[in-house]
Amino acid sequence: GIANKDVELGDGKKKGARVKVSGRIHRLRAQKQATFITLIDGYGHLQCVLQSGDLTKTYDALTFAQGTSLTLYGEMRKVPDGQQAPDGRELHVDYYEVIGASPGDDEAITNKVSVSQNQWDQGMLDNRHLVLRGDNAASLMKLRSQVEWAFIKTYNDMKFVKVSPPALVQTQVEGGATLFKVPYYDEEAYLTQSSQLYLETVLPSLGNVYCIEKSFRAEKSLTRRHLSEYSHVEAELDFVTFDDLLEHLEELMCRVIDSVLGDPETAAFLKELNPTFARPQRPFMRMRYSDAIDWLNAQDPPILNEEDKPHVFGDDIAEAAERKMTDAINRPIFLTHFPAEIKAFYMKKDPQDRRVTESVDCLMPGVGEIVGGSMRMEDLDELLQAYKTQGIDAKDYYWYTDQRKYGTSPHGGYGLGLERFLAWMANQHTVRTTCLYPRFMGRCKP
Ligand code: 4AD
Ligand code: MG
Repeated sequence: GIANKDVELGDGKKKGARVKVSGRIHRLRAQKQATFITLIDGYGHLQCVLQSGDLTKTYDALTFAQGTSLTLYGEMRKVPDGQQAPDGRELHVDYYEVIGASPGDDEAITNKVSVSQNQWDQGMLDNRHLVLRGDNAASLMKLRSQVEWAFIKTYNDMKFVKVSPPALVQTQVEGGATLFKVPYYDEEAYLTQSSQLYLETVLPSLGNVYCIEKSFRAEKSLTRRHLSEYSHVEAELDFVTFDDLLEHLEELMCRVIDSVLGDPETAAFLKELNPTFARPQRPFMRMRYSDAIDWLNAQDPPILNEEDKPHVFGDDIAEAAERKMTDAINRPIFLTHFPAEIKAFYMKKDPQDRRVTESVDCLMPGVGEIVGGSMRMEDLDELLQAYKTQGIDAKDYYWYTDQRKYGTSPHGGYGLGLERFLAWMANQHTVRTTCLYPRFMGRCKP
């Protein structure tokens, strides 16, 4: 690859190693004396110099353009003092072969459009496959790869077992409104909203478990942080208390961040995107839902609910209000004890105050909710009652119900949206820049 640093450099007097490299033209600068190509191959950038003369007589703008793939041969040299090039070196080309020409004129690959513009401009979204060739998009995808690896490594160190639950299911987890229905032979199925219920079923045999799978939500609104298909990091812990769950979550996120920052290349890139990013201080702030309601109403002017009235107990805290509060407090918040009626059927009630659940959302500045979790109802009769209250047909959930029949346990878990976690870390305006090919209402291509 062109990133290989072990090659000997010449300096004009001493001859450098003769090498053969392949890649694509990332940037092109033609001067009278020489043509400069920045070659890219996914591992790095390399400056290549073609001295004007025999070598450059044969090409025109069609031979060399942004995106053209080629193989170059030549001597590797130190760049002269006072000049800059990636890794301080350049390839002095004496021979080349063009592998694939490129029209090179697309504004997506010529980096003419700003990254933020890319995410809202339909033309740019249609050209996402070309936008991904840009430095910024590529670096974000590399960061994502590192972060995903950090989760896997951290869970593995914590002795969690990785499982892979099905994507085609016949039960809902987070309400019927956002289900994608798919024909399934002669039956009907859904694309999963969350793997949680399946994770719960394997606690008895595998102990603490996790998965990183796609979740699907038919979100009928376009926001900065909602996707129709997203990567969901989910875990389930057996024989824990609500406090144990919160502490684990804090520990997980901090270890993942340390691990990502421990990689110098990733840390450097992250610093560019988000100069002030640092691992948050532990413990994270804990705030009860009812205190959040008071906080919103105490602002001057008060932050109103979705009906433009002051918040009352039982209101959903909408995305905008949540973000305003998180940005004002400007540190991670564990928002806990949401009212039972605005939360999912499976959430355990707080024994001290049965109006509320042992539930948590982790809120991060700039994004708001990145994690949702809770303790799970462990009592059989209570769960059967919860199905009734929420209009769920218990028949479809027999396998979930069985967990309470065959040796129940105090357990809990959570789901973390990987794209939201990345948007927070990398200071992205929207989750759309943190996934390869974002899916949201109205967009299912490329
Ligand atoms: O809060 P949610 O809906 O919780 C669950 O699905 C639980 N069953 C998870 C569990 O306990 N195992 O979703 C969890 C997280 C959210 O906090 C958010 O980060 C992300 O998933 N998320 C989305 N990310 C992008 N686009 C969407 N439409 C999302 N919906 C949820
Ligand atoms: Mg949630």
